[in-house]
Amino acid sequence: MALIRSVERRTRPNSGEHRVVAAAEALFEKTLVSVRGQLAGSVATLESKLHNSSLNYSEIFLRDNVPVMVYLLLQGRFELVRHFLDLCLELQSRSYRNRGVFPTSFVEEQGEIVADYGQRSIGRISSVDASLWWPVLCWIYVRASGDRAYGASGPVQQGIQLLLDLVLNPTFDGTPVLFVPDCSFMIDRPMDVWGAPLEVEALLFGSLKSCCRLMELVPAEPEGENITQQRLKLTRSWIRDLRVFLLKHYWVTSKTMQVLRRRPTEQYGESQSQNEFNVQPEVIPHWLQEWLENRGGYLIGNMRTGRPDFRFYSLGNSLGSLFGLLTGPQQRALFRLVIHNRQHLMAEMPMRICHPPMEREEWINKTGMDRKNWPWSYHNGGHWPSLLWPLAAAVLMHKHNYPNDDVLLVGQTRTMLEECYWQQLNQLPKQQWAEYFDGPTGTWVGQQARTHQTWTIVGFLLLHHFLRKAPEDVALLDLDADGSLELSAKKKPAYSGPERRKDWRA
Ligand code: GLC
Repeated sequence: MALIRSVERRTRPNSGEHRVVAAAEALFEKTLVSVRGQLAGSVATLESKLHNSSLNYSEIFLRDNVPVMVYLLLQGRFELVRHFLDLCLELQSRSYRNRGVFPTSFVEEQGEIVADYGQRSIGRISSVDASLWWPVLCWIYVRASGDRAYGASGPVQQGIQLLLDLVLNPTFDGTPVLFVPDCSFMIDRPMDVWGAPLEVEALLFGSLKSCCRLMELVPAEPEGENITQQRLKLTRSWIRDLRVFLLKHYWVTSKTMQVLRRRPTEQYGESQSQNEFNVQPEVIPHWLQEWLENRGGYLIGNMRTGRPDFRFYSLGNSLGSLFGLLTGPQQRALFRLVIHNRQHLMAEMPMRICHPPMEREEWINKTGMDRKNWPWSYHNGGHWPSLLWPLAAAVLMHKHNYPNDDVLLVGQTRTMLEECYWQQLNQLPKQQWAEYFDGPTGTWVGQQARTHQTWTIVGFLLLHHFLRKAPEDVALLDLDADGSLELSAKKKPAYSGPERRKDWRA
């Protein structure tokens, strides 16, 4: 224990931390843009602002603004967040083909707000994750600001119901997962992630929890049940079913592998349910043996009849842990797996988006040779600095919820995260806060990477906030907590140097 603490306390006097953080803060301010004369969120890259590019990176993307809004809430900038939430709500689609869908991105052009629901994007697919993030952001705004009246207000409640209409529906497959096309989330170019990709399902779990929290703000009717109360019941049981489903079909360890490989196949009938998806043992890849080692575990990328996707997706796993989809021991098994596979997942630029990448033949067949997703690049095994903060938040949340469980492992995981933080601090300013990095070690700046990418900048600032400044602020992301929240911005003076580090480990 003493050893771990001394490693964690280590400061790096020559790292230029203050200078880098100050520069990142200044850049972040420049990413903010106004809509209707009031700051409303960040463009996707500063490059687009500076060079007036024709790509859509100058728009306000909902998903890219997730870390932005979390950061603004930590700073107590509630009005800005509320304006963003209101604009998204106003733009929630009412058209009969995609009623309830929130836009992927929007922009103000000559006084008009133009929103993209997929009709302007490559592949013309709408972003499921954008819609699912909105209730999460709305709920954490309500909790951080104390503005419960907003959460209970008519427009917010109506927005929630419209979104739930899209999710809580009977379907032909009768499962609690959301069935989506390829390219419908952060991975928005072909990657064979259609069906029930982990990232969407883990986020759905957090999103439904947030919807419940928001619906709970509406006072119950003394007599009989109103629509909100009926929906609340249904949503709660949906969440339970979803969790059971995901833990049963997506969670794997070396122990479960021993069972999965020896299951019978071709099973019919209700009582024969060892292998509902008829997975043949031959599709289980050999790399899993070394990857899982003895005590690691993770959620696989997708489950489809006969075709599980065993790739490891960083964001889906971090969210599964952060939102409490995984049990405490499962969360620790995930951290063990990440430490064990650090040379792959972190390498020179934490953190890889998915592992392993599709090799050439598979990439040709399954992506249609998507140019940006060639092996070891972009979504196909690329390294995205913006993906590290959700893992850091998951680890800190674990510590918050299970303070006395396996402190050694959690300490080791924190130490690893701190080292990754220093790697980013050292590299990102030199590489102009690039969007992503390529190759097995993630050393090369992504072949088509934008520079001064907002979520790279703000992701780093969040890491700095959570790891170096106020780890207790991770409570903002605790979707199971209800009561009022005391964020560090409200109760402490601003960060004033490395000496502040002592208080959180004291
Ligand atoms: C790319 C990414 C997507 C992101 C967008 C804006 O299309 O794949 O996830 O939202 O850029 O940064």
